[in-house]
Amino acid sequence: MQAEVHAIDHPLIQHKLTLMRKAETSTAKFRTLLKEISLLLAYEVTRDLPLKTEQIDTPIASTNAPMLAPDKKLVIVSILRAGQGILDGMLELMPSARVGHIGLYRDPKTLTAIEYYFKVPDEVEKRDVLIVDPMLATGNSAIAAVDRLKAINPNSLKFVCLLAAPEGIKHFHSQHPDVPIYTAAIDDRLDEHGYIVPGLGDAGDRLFGTR
Ligand code: URA
Repeated sequence: MQAEVHAIDHPLIQHKLTLMRKAETSTAKFRTLLKEISLLLAYEVTRDLPLKTEQIDTPIASTNAPMLAPDKKLVIVSILRAGQGILDGMLELMPSARVGHIGLYRDPKTLTAIEYYFKVPDEVEKRDVLIVDPMLATGNSAIAAVDRLKAINPNSLKFVCLLAAPEGIKHFHSQHPDVPIYTAAIDDRLDEHGYIVPGLGDAGDRLFGTR
């Protein structure tokens, strides 16, 4: 199986991402930019959503028109806490999506992902799931999230991030070659602390104004 990586290099995304990367960008601006980029990513990630036709009446005529299949509501699973930034943007475009959360933190020494929270909507097994987390760094959190979700057997899974490190992509696809990655950019490498270089720093801290 050819593992899929979609780098969504739309000029608007690239411009906004550069603004996010700048160290001097404020928390408020960072949040707004992440939301805006998430809307643009959502557009690309949902390109293959199934449609049904419905008979409707326009003011002029009756017609069969496409609608999203009502029984196929998406589930967006946010990896806490930075995933919330992408979730907010995606929900603006898809307000009926169901939402799940996975709380994972990185052990600072081993960089492994440790779960502290898990809650997803019922009937995930019938649904298409988008897992969102801005940074695909070592890949450990993304792998842990997919491991957990695969155990409930969703209809499909996609992983959506803002930045990916080549090491993270490789590690993730060594475990889950069937899960496509959608990212706004693929950066150079990871540093010795597991940060993406050049990256944008700690996405959660920049989003929430913590340190
Ligand atoms: N998580 C972040 O927030 N930033 C990185 O560079 C890597 C992981």
